[in-house]
Amino acid sequence: MTQTILAPFPAQRPRRSRSTPWSRAMHRETILTPANLIWPLFVADGQGVEDPIASLPGVSRWSVDLMVERAKEAVSLGIPCLALFPYTQKERRSEDGKEALNPDNLMCRAIRAIKDACGDDIGILTDVALDPYTSHGQDGLIDDNGYVLNDATVETLVGQSLNQANAGADIIAPSDMMDGRIAAIRAALEGANHQNVQIMSYAAKYASAFYGPFRDAVGSRGLLKGDKKTYQMDPANSDEALREVAIDLAEGADSVMVKPGLPYLDIARRVKDEFGVPVFAYQVSGEYAMIEHAVAAGAADRDTMVLETLLAFRRAGCSGVLTYHAAHAARLLNG
Ligand code: PBG
Repeated sequence: MTQTILAPFPAQRPRRSRSTPWSRAMHRETILTPANLIWPLFVADGQGVEDPIASLPGVSRWSVDLMVERAKEAVSLGIPCLALFPYTQKERRSEDGKEALNPDNLMCRAIRAIKDACGDDIGILTDVALDPYTSHGQDGLIDDNGYVLNDATVETLVGQSLNQANAGADIIAPSDMMDGRIAAIRAALEGANHQNVQIMSYAAKYASAFYGPFRDAVGSRGLLKGDKKTYQMDPANSDEALREVAIDLAEGADSVMVKPGLPYLDIARRVKDEFGVPVFAYQVSGEYAMIEHAVAAGAADRDTMVLETLLAFRRAGCSGVLTYHAAHAARLLNG
């Protein structure tokens, strides 16, 4: 359409508007700020513990006391929200993942400590899925054949969501991909006086090769046999993502997520165009690791690559990005 009103060269020279920094700034279509970043963090047991994660160079698990410091750092950087994940000791894992329901589990302790220290200066998003708590590393309850059961899992996820909301979580983010869980969780939150607790649904979550380092970080990699293909989406599908999003919105999701991030920007754009709702994307652990390894190999400059990838999410229509580079990016953006 716009092509038809273009003057021919040399009347039209697209380079004119790119010729100076002020002009480039003036013509910039997309803005990235720290408010667009959500910082995923891994919680560990103990006191004063920083436990580096080998496959996520530069990322550590933090004990609750030090997690509070990370939260304060995020507030000072203008990052509006943290996404918390627990590293659960093997002894506390079980076939049914019931540690997810323990009101004193690591997640709940971290949520309470951050809320005590920072109040509403920062939001806390919590992942709902059983993989940090199961002895088999699947996101749900399994039958004798290892098949992940849908409806029984949803019941447990409802309990996990209420447990997190009771501890002070602001956004419940179901990452499990069970059918019907958004409606069930929404109803339970409404019934428990958590009307303002949001749901950000991992609506289009793919069975991806990019989650490896995350599974190290929460301690489920060695435990997981097989894959998650009976519940996470086929990377070949795009129309199906729209259906998943439509279902979750109809069930009461406040916002939706696409995951992984960069390889799925087409999905983010389609979801945004089709529904016009807040769309978030997760630049997942394997994407983070790719950037860090490229930097370590001398193939790229970290700062420009980080900001370029994050800007790409904004350009694709995302309101925000979950990224392990959040603090670093915010520092760069704040100058
Ligand atoms: C758990 C969950 C996963 C991630 C977020 N929540 C892993 C998985 O589904 O296996 C991945 C995040 C990342 O790789 O950074 N359901």
